[in-house]
Amino acid sequence: MRIVTAIPEMTRLVKERRDRGETVGLVPTMGFFHEGHLSLMRAARADNDFVVVSLFVNPTQFGPGEDFREYPRDLPRDMEMAAREGVDCIFHPRPEDMYPQPYLTYVEVGGITERLCGAHRPGHFRGVATVVAKLFHIIPAHRAYFGIKDAQQVRVIQKMVEDLNFDVEIVVCPTVREPDGLAMSSRNTYLGTEERRAATALYRSLRLAEDMVRGGERDVARVISAMRELLAAEPLVETEYVEAVDWKFLEPVSELRGEVLIALAARVGRARLIDNTLIRVE
Ligand code: PAJ
Repeated sequence: MRIVTAIPEMTRLVKERRDRGETVGLVPTMGFFHEGHLSLMRAARADNDFVVVSLFVNPTQFGPGEDFREYPRDLPRDMEMAAREGVDCIFHPRPEDMYPQPYLTYVEVGGITERLCGAHRPGHFRGVATVVAKLFHIIPAHRAYFGIKDAQQVRVIQKMVEDLNFDVEIVVCPTVREPDGLAMSSRNTYLGTEERRAATALYRSLRLAEDMVRGGERDVARVISAMRELLAAEPLVETEYVEAVDWKFLEPVSELRGEVLIALAARVGRARLIDNTLIRVE
């Protein structure tokens, strides 16, 4: 497995592979790998001749007062895990090369970035869209892999690809969970023992919503208030939002019909956790 830090070298390497007729898969990450990241690498490995994982803790997607500085990092461990998955190359650029000073150009996706996490993390999706657009230019892949765990991020990338005519197929992969349901996240390392136990409330509330819908409930307000009640029963969980939106435009819905995303964010200790379920109602 190769590790590349220089941007021109990375682009040259990928173009050589493409010229030979090989397919290229890209997995963008911020590192500190867990099974969620590894599942994306496995999907990319199965579909492509050449697999690149980018590992870059992207400063522009963190707001002031967020966890950019303490975000967990462990490059040697990450390299070992990626090598074991048969990844061909890790792209690990320097911040000063990704953002030459003064950095002046950003990608802004409107509308769908206004709700859910976008409403609570101003500028976050501008940073995500900008870095992913840069990665798509640096690494001209045939396919790029993203987890539905970050559902709004998936929609932002899909819309950016559509609107700006990026020639890449976005492959969306399912959420990988701990045995007790907690969605895997690099930020789970922030949780103490009691907080870790309380954090299962996020998944339990989503299961409750799914059960209610399966039982015939179609009123969004009733589903959301039952979820909120379950979350409120855990004093260590401070709910930020619980929302039901349509999958295409991420606009609030009042009735469960079609493809509805039920998404939530909560603080548990110093961790800000998100999770969601995509419900298809006939
Ligand atoms: P990061 O949080 O490292 O996540 C990298 C990829 O792994 C994302 O596509 C994310 O959705 C996926 N992922 C995270 N947890 C997952 C889980 N439990 N199951 C399945 N997939 C999971 O998301 C980012 O980095 C950044 O915003 C990035 C896109 C790299 C831009 O900086």
